[in-house]
Amino acid sequence: MELRTKDEIQSASKKYNMHSWSIQGGLSPKQIVKAEGINFWDADGKRYYDMSSQLVNMNIGHGNKKVIKAIQDQAEKLPYIAPGFATDVKSNLAKMLIDIAPSNMGKVFFTLGGAEANENAVKISKMFTGRNKVFSRYRSYHGATYGAANLTGEQEDMPVSREYRDLSNSLTHTSIRHLLILRARKKLLHSL
Ligand SMILES: Cc1ncc(COP(=O)(O)O)c(C=O)c1O
Repeated sequence: MELRTKDEIQSASKKYNMHSWSIQGGLSPKQIVKAEGINFWDADGKRYYDMSSQLVNMNIGHGNKKVIKAIQDQAEKLPYIAPGFATDVKSNLAKMLIDIAPSNMGKVFFTLGGAEANENAVKISKMFTGRNKVFSRYRSYHGATYGAANLTGEQEDMPVSREYRDLSNSLTHTSIRHLLILRARKKLLHSL
């Protein structure tokens, strides 16, 4: 039977949905029913201002008509194709990004989200430099997948990350100050 009421939807969310970065038992996820522009509404009709369209990666306002139209058009024309093929949208977007990127950047690798992007960035850097060590900042967030969570700096309010820290032989958390000192030391050594 379809879940309809606010209470049914909230309790099913607690029972069946795994919520990321959270102690599951303490959750009480609000049911959100619609969003438009800088607002979204919960099931009680309460309106919330949302200046960043949730997680800032889509900071164009909720329900942007141009984006909806582009998604509809693409879903009708070609909703899915394996990554080995070329498509007009993939080629055009990559070219647009390269046109505004620094001149030493030549290719775009599209991913499905931030954690995947960071994991691929680490792989590509290791391949390119032949080096193993990765630095990331103490107070940082890099995503919830296995590798990205290990990159994520230790944070008191994210206890889940501590459970699977085991890439320590190649990963060091550090501060910008420490990195600047390392760079200055290296410069000094080269000048001797
Ligand atoms: C700085 C930063 N890096 C990585 C991520 C992970 O992105 P995603 O949730 O798309 O995997 C986030 C997400 O909030 C982020 O803010």
